[in-house]
Amino acid sequence: MGERVGPYEVTELLAAGGMAEIFLGHKDGPGGFEKQLVIKRIAKKLLGDREIEHMFVDEARVQALLDHPNIVQIYDFGEDRGSYFMAMELVRGCTLRWTIDNANAVRRPIPMQHALRIAADVLCGLHYAHERADDDGKALKLIHRDISPVNVLISRAGIAKLCDFGVAKSEIQRVMTRAGIVKGKFRYMSPEQLNAGELDRRADLFAVGTVLWEMLTGRRLFDQQDEDDVVAAIRSGDYPAPSELRPGVPRPIDRILRKALHSNRDRRFRSAREFQLACEEILRMLPSASNSVLVGEYVSAELDGTAGLGVPTRRRQYTPENDSLLASGFEVLDPPVPSSPTTISNPPSADYADEGSDRVAPPPGLTGRVAGAMLMAPAVVFGGLGKAIEGIGSLFSPKRRDPEVRVTRTRMRD
Ligand SMILES: Nc1ncnc2c1ncn2[C@@H]1O[C@H](COP(=O)(O)OP(=O)(O)O)[C@@H](O)[C@H]1O
Ligand SMILES: [Mg+2]
Repeated sequence: MGERVGPYEVTELLAAGGMAEIFLGHKDGPGGFEKQLVIKRIAKKLLGDREIEHMFVDEARVQALLDHPNIVQIYDFGEDRGSYFMAMELVRGCTLRWTIDNANAVRRPIPMQHALRIAADVLCGLHYAHERADDDGKALKLIHRDISPVNVLISRAGIAKLCDFGVAKSEIQRVMTRAGIVKGKFRYMSPEQLNAGELDRRADLFAVGTVLWEMLTGRRLFDQQDEDDVVAAIRSGDYPAPSELRPGVPRPIDRILRKALHSNRDRRFRSAREFQLACEEILRMLPSASNSVLVGEYVSAELDGTAGLGVPTRRRQYTPENDSLLASGFEVLDPPVPSSPTTISNPPSADYADEGSDRVAPPPGLTGRVAGAMLMAPAVVFGGLGKAIEGIGSLFSPKRRDPEVRVTRTRMRD
């Protein structure tokens, strides 16, 4: 038996950040009914902090207004023993953070078409949130302010969902950010957000740009050690194009990122919808398709390790006594990023040894041949070896020219 929170029973701690604890929970009903869901509540150490409580209520009130497939759905909000909790849709899958880290660890970049599909999903949910008005038609002027790979969940069904409206700003919130206070994650912030200036939706578009850039290159756009250097880099507005780091990225992708990441927000996309449609247009030009089925197959294969990696084991029971699990920053939703290949058979020869990220060291003993095998392995997933080579191998091989680029250029008049 786990702990009860309102009408729910919580069984497993999924994540514990600075402010909140996230649990796997369920509600049972007659006749064997059982619904699994996620319970989020204020971290114990912050109980009684009025400002945090108000922020948490604001978060729930904002999320309750959002009913969209690309936004995590809230089901319920309540109070239990002096603390608030939310019940939310359980997204079975992984965070985008895990997806990127895993892609780096196994040296198999996220297929470009899936990166664009995930970004387009996030932008679709974001546009809906940006446009949301109250019942009287008054715009809520919602800004998420904290878009980053940990706040994007990808379900095994292949849908990307935005979560964590914890620092969102809107017309309905009660806790107003004091002037000069910056909220959100530093490395994904727009220049105007860093300046603690007046924000609008275009700050979120910049953040989606940094996330898409990271999905494509496997590197954080603002990866400097020193915070001052991060600030200087963000303000410089001078970022490498993804194609400089990942050969085969077509020019139109560079172009949309240049636009999304423009330091002058007047030069960015005007809305998430405009940015989304630009991603969708490029998607139609790529030789390999992406849709929810294919993204679902991709993340499931990565999570299950069917691409040559062992399945990480991860199950921990949560009980109130077992409080040591609540160490801050502890995340158990995502399996550990694999560190070494376990089952690889019949590796075809290919040389990808110089491909990949500078952040994660290659797994021990990962030779060019083995890395090649890992690149090819998703053939099954993507519906045929030929397609996998075209859709994955050729896109990431620095030594091969990519026919896709030519097709794309011609058709898009680049
Ligand atoms: N609905 C959900 N389904 C599955 N996992 C979730 C869900 N909501 C949150 N998580 C997991 O919990 C983590 C933290 O949740 P989040 O709402 O972002 O809390 P915080 O405000 O502490 O950042 C997420 O990065 C994700 O790993
Ligand atoms: Mg979060």
